[in-house]
Amino acid sequence: MSRDRVFLSPPHMSGQEQKYIDEVFKSNYIAPLGAYVNKFEEFIKEYTDIPYALATSSATAALHLALRILGVKRDDFVLASSFTFIGSVAPILYQDAKPVFIDSDESWNLSPALLKKAIKELPKKPKALILTHLYGQMAKIDEIASICKENGIYLIEDAAESLGASYNGKQSGTFGDIGVFSFNGNKILTTSGGGIFVSEREEWVKKAEFLATQAREDELFYQHQEIGYNYRMSNVLAAIGVAQMEVLQQRVDKKREIFAWYKEFLDHIDEISFMPEIKNSIGNRWLTTLLFSKTNPFKIIKILEQNNIESRPLWKPMHLQPIFQNNISFTEEMSEELFSHGICLPSGSAMTKDVVERICNLILENLE
Ligand SMILES: Cc1ncc(COP(=O)(O)O)c(C=O)c1O
Repeated sequence: MSRDRVFLSPPHMSGQEQKYIDEVFKSNYIAPLGAYVNKFEEFIKEYTDIPYALATSSATAALHLALRILGVKRDDFVLASSFTFIGSVAPILYQDAKPVFIDSDESWNLSPALLKKAIKELPKKPKALILTHLYGQMAKIDEIASICKENGIYLIEDAAESLGASYNGKQSGTFGDIGVFSFNGNKILTTSGGGIFVSEREEWVKKAEFLATQAREDELFYQHQEIGYNYRMSNVLAAIGVAQMEVLQQRVDKKREIFAWYKEFLDHIDEISFMPEIKNSIGNRWLTTLLFSKTNPFKIIKILEQNNIESRPLWKPMHLQPIFQNNISFTEEMSEELFSHGICLPSGSAMTKDVVERICNLILENLE
């Protein structure tokens, strides 16, 4: 790969990672668990102001634990944002439950109106909602949380993309019954792969820990009454996570600055509109995303690729995925529109303004 390739959202090290990894090797705590796993969880608890956290092998694993803990079983309905990544909803299938997809509204995130409609019209009460805060921008969380509460539906926040985003000063991932964050390679922070499960309920986090470590009963020997998983994060990766957490606020500020640069270069174009930020919220602008009203985004993606620049289409909605063709969905074709007109632009937190300008010039030269 050429050295000057511009990636969508590559890992950005703080500089402390190697030092902490060396400490892990010196202590020989290479195995899962160890001091850095605890430190990493402490960091998350402090930053998000949540009392309990568990580091996991991925956010997908953390979501699976959430569904298990909330008692989601075969044929239960689980509501979910349609406009999201497959990792958000695959765990519903791991439980043999039935995803019901809810479309977006003008916020690009889940529509509270369609959520209400789904609850009213479904033949039985859904057990839970998995709500994604898309591209690091807050969904209408207060409205959605109160709909879930009024209807006795558990709220799981998929904050995989939104670490550091907040609504009225409260962090994403902390409004629902359970929240999850991702630390995979392209997220605002990375441990190369990893996740975090957070909750205010101590017993749920304890249960998540039990299930994530093969459901081993508290005996001297290996005793099992139920089946669990091998879902914990290793101490080596947690060491990377601690070094990354130390610069979270800087990363959020930089992602927001990159977004502001794109706006500066492109906002004057009538056919371009950026993903909104709802009132009283601060998104982390994990990826800068925008819509073209005339130009084909797939053409722009190709042109950028010819210039060694990585960009991507927006997520293809779940209700359009072949695997979910028989699932129920409540849509108004919003996410379909977004998918066919939108683009994710390079947003790596080490980017410089001249690179953003180069990308914007390529876009401006190729508008239809
Ligand atoms: C919205 C969303 N949900 C879930 C996931 C899954 O996270 P992980 O890769 O840590 O399993 C991701 C990203 O990978 C994501 O973007």
